[in-house]
Amino acid sequence: MNILVTGGAGFIGSNFVKHMLKNFDHNIINIDSLTYAGNLKNLQDVQNNDRYFFIKGSIEDRILLENVFQKYDIQVVINFAAESHVDRSISDPEIFLNTNVIGTQALLDAALNYWKSESENKYDIKFKDEVKFIQISTDEVYGTLGETGYFTEETGLAPNSPYSASKAASDMIVRAYHETYGLPINITRCSNNYGPLQFPEKLIPLMINNALKEKSLPVYGDGCQVRDWLHVKDHCRAIDCVLRYGKNGEIYNIGGNNEKKNIEIVRLILNKLDKSESLIKHVQDRLGHDRRYAIDNTKIMSELGWSPEYSFEEGIQKTIKWYLENEEWMEDITSGDYINYYDHMYNC
Ligand code: NAD
Ligand code: TYD
Repeated sequence: MNILVTGGAGFIGSNFVKHMLKNFDHNIINIDSLTYAGNLKNLQDVQNNDRYFFIKGSIEDRILLENVFQKYDIQVVINFAAESHVDRSISDPEIFLNTNVIGTQALLDAALNYWKSESENKYDIKFKDEVKFIQISTDEVYGTLGETGYFTEETGLAPNSPYSASKAASDMIVRAYHETYGLPINITRCSNNYGPLQFPEKLIPLMINNALKEKSLPVYGDGCQVRDWLHVKDHCRAIDCVLRYGKNGEIYNIGGNNEKKNIEIVRLILNKLDKSESLIKHVQDRLGHDRRYAIDNTKIMSELGWSPEYSFEEGIQKTIKWYLENEEWMEDITSGDYINYYDHMYNC
């Protein structure tokens, strides 16, 4: 099978590319525009694999997409490419709409045009066999929860940040291509991921990096916001499961039943690194900050047989170890533009 992965040089995409090359004999074609979040070092160990092809380019580039579909005879698209950080979406929403919405639509058009059969009648579109478009979405499209309850696939969309609104909009356009043209699709909505290769703008790697450097750990507001954490390798296994067994047109929530308050995570990291809690600094809360996310993962577990393998205790231990053993990777990405981003974001 020839699988087009977009955004494969980012955190989840690069873990997924490696998971697929290791466990299957598919060809993986990775299109990534290499924004600040895309890093070819994430893929160093597979760059010479003869089933792996990298193309630097944007999912908004329709001509590039058409050429890639033809050249590699693409059968599956897994769309990870996105602007993914809530704080950046608050400072500069426009790029989120361009990449996440317009880019997804360009990708859908490329898939539709390449996959529909030649003899197509405008009122009865037929597709090549075994093609599928998988949209990698997020639980953030559902908005925020109170102290109880869970997001199910039936929960209404109520995104609160420009990031989550752009992801909800891309989910809607993917759904519309399925309903209107019959394009075979799945949408996955996962909770917060953690693990190796995550850019240190997100909570866990940022706190590990700061703690190691004895810099203050900026906790937004009271730190009692809740996220439902899943190890990235469990997310990759879930996507691979949806690729193989997902029913056409279905949405699957993915989560690890692992709710934690931000402050608990920050304290745990300090404790594991043997650093003082005096490094914690409560800072101004994020605008529109969602209070709680929690996934009901009954559907993917009961219908597709997926379940998470990592406990949080094991996953966070291994993740901290990975960052300790890969200080050079962290140094590389935190030495350039990251300094300006950090100073601007945290008013240093
Ligand atoms: P990331 O920011 O680490 O990586 C995004 C990748 O997309 C980067 O490699 C970047 O260069 C690439 N990219 C950006 N714009 C592009 C464009 N126009 N064309 C081609 N490539 C482009 O993000 P991530 O954390 O790996 O998230 C991947 C996907 O998973 C996103 O769609 C995100 O919404 C979703 N998701 C993330 C989480 C999480 O906790 N990180 C949870 C659920 C869902
Ligand atoms: P983040 O990793 O940005 O993921 P998301 O906003 O998509 O859930 O943030 C996770 C939680 O951690 C969120 O409630 C915001 C909080 N947070 C901080 O308290 N301080 C920080 O410096 C960052 C980056 C996040």
